[in-house]
Amino acid sequence: FYGAVINPTSLTSYSSSPYCLIAVGSSGDINWIVNDVAPHKLQDTLASKGCVDADVIALKDGEFIIPGFVDTHTHAPQIPNLGTGGQYQLLDWLKYITFPMEAKFADVAFARKTYASVVRRIIDSGTTTCCYYGTLHLEATKVLADIVHSLGQRAFVGKCNMNRECPPDYIEPSAESSVKDTRALITHIKSLPPHGHEHLVQPVITPRFAISCTDDLLSSLGTLAASDPNLRIQTHISENLGEINFTKELFPKAPSYAGVYDMFGLLRDNTILAHAVHLGEDEIQLIKTKNAGISHCPTSNFNLNSGVAPVGLYLDKGIKVGLGTDVSGGFNLSMLNAIRNASIAAKVRSMQAPITSTFSSSSFANKPLPIPTLLYLATAGGAAVCGLEKRIGSFAAEKSFDALFVNVRPDAGNIGLLGLTDSPAVRGSLEEKKKLLDTWLERFLFCGDDRNIQCVYVQGRLVGGRSFHR
Ligand code: GUN
Ligand code: FE
Repeated sequence: FYGAVINPTSLTSYSSSPYCLIAVGSSGDINWIVNDVAPHKLQDTLASKGCVDADVIALKDGEFIIPGFVDTHTHAPQIPNLGTGGQYQLLDWLKYITFPMEAKFADVAFARKTYASVVRRIIDSGTTTCCYYGTLHLEATKVLADIVHSLGQRAFVGKCNMNRECPPDYIEPSAESSVKDTRALITHIKSLPPHGHEHLVQPVITPRFAISCTDDLLSSLGTLAASDPNLRIQTHISENLGEINFTKELFPKAPSYAGVYDMFGLLRDNTILAHAVHLGEDEIQLIKTKNAGISHCPTSNFNLNSGVAPVGLYLDKGIKVGLGTDVSGGFNLSMLNAIRNASIAAKVRSMQAPITSTFSSSSFANKPLPIPTLLYLATAGGAAVCGLEKRIGSFAAEKSFDALFVNVRPDAGNIGLLGLTDSPAVRGSLEEKKKLLDTWLERFLFCGDDRNIQCVYVQGRLVGGRSFHR
């Protein structure tokens, strides 16, 4: 691949190269990358790498490549509810909106039809890696994993564990059956054939949240987790004040909400904790010590009136953070929307912070998040949260090529990006072109949409985007 590439390098920086050459092997892994290869040097550079007969896919003017987005938290069965229920807070929203919809996935034919269009849409919106919650149903969740597998997305797929505090028609009968079905899902997903050398779809243990699980169930899931340190765990934490109080009532012996998961061996370096809006200091310390990751779900936190998570503080503490759409607590399945709401959430916190903190030496707390940070959270940060930092999230030799081709030309049909390719810098110096790329990225993050996502690659394979459907 040859063209403009934006590559996150740290929480506060990315590199932009208007003329980047990325060599991807047949496995879908990146062999090497050379920045700033001028067009007249392209053939020489290829020859020097021993790649004279390589197939070069050259980006057109007005296109650039970024790593694919990592959605660290979403609920596939809630997409049919997108945009409804915002009048409720969490526990009523679950009762009146969410559980009734999820119950419908007992019907496997309904699940198949719904999940096929859901996963298609999520891929085309630029999510190359997705952490999915299914429903409590084993069969429907197998179908979800099969569809993700066949469409070629990288993902973690979990079946919700929930054996209490749920409606009679949408609850698991016992801790034993919940764990048995979880094991069966894990076996099913592990038996799916790899894509080349890589298992793109992996199982994840998914205790829905502490409230919906008995001590017995959490304890058995802890045992299951201990049997395989590589198994990811995903759950919700400290989202809403009513939820937090109820959790304390249900687990009087636990020191805190985070303490509940820790008590049962479910808090570890590959645990993905969604929300984390109202954590206490001791919980933040515990999460840091265990090296668990946080999925920041700002759209959902606004929409369900949950609060504004102190993500800047978590970043200052060195806690891993990624972004999640949390559909349908969040009303949009696109990570671009999660990025925008993460930006607004940080600005809300900074506006509400005491004036003295504006002068504090913190790097992130109570401050707006800069563009490189937003890009990082949506890509490399999410990769770290799901324990894939060696494989995805940025471009480097030996990482896999999970990428988006973004088209910011007028032919994409998005008036929100008007004028971007008319700039004189398009034909300017290398430095001017790099500056222009900054503008392309910022405008795309805030005003772009699916129309601008030309190609979606996972593990070097074209799996979505506008050109995929042509
Ligand atoms: N807590 C338990 N279940 C859910 C869910 O489906 N969505 C959100 N946002 N929070 C939850
Ligand atoms: Fe959620």
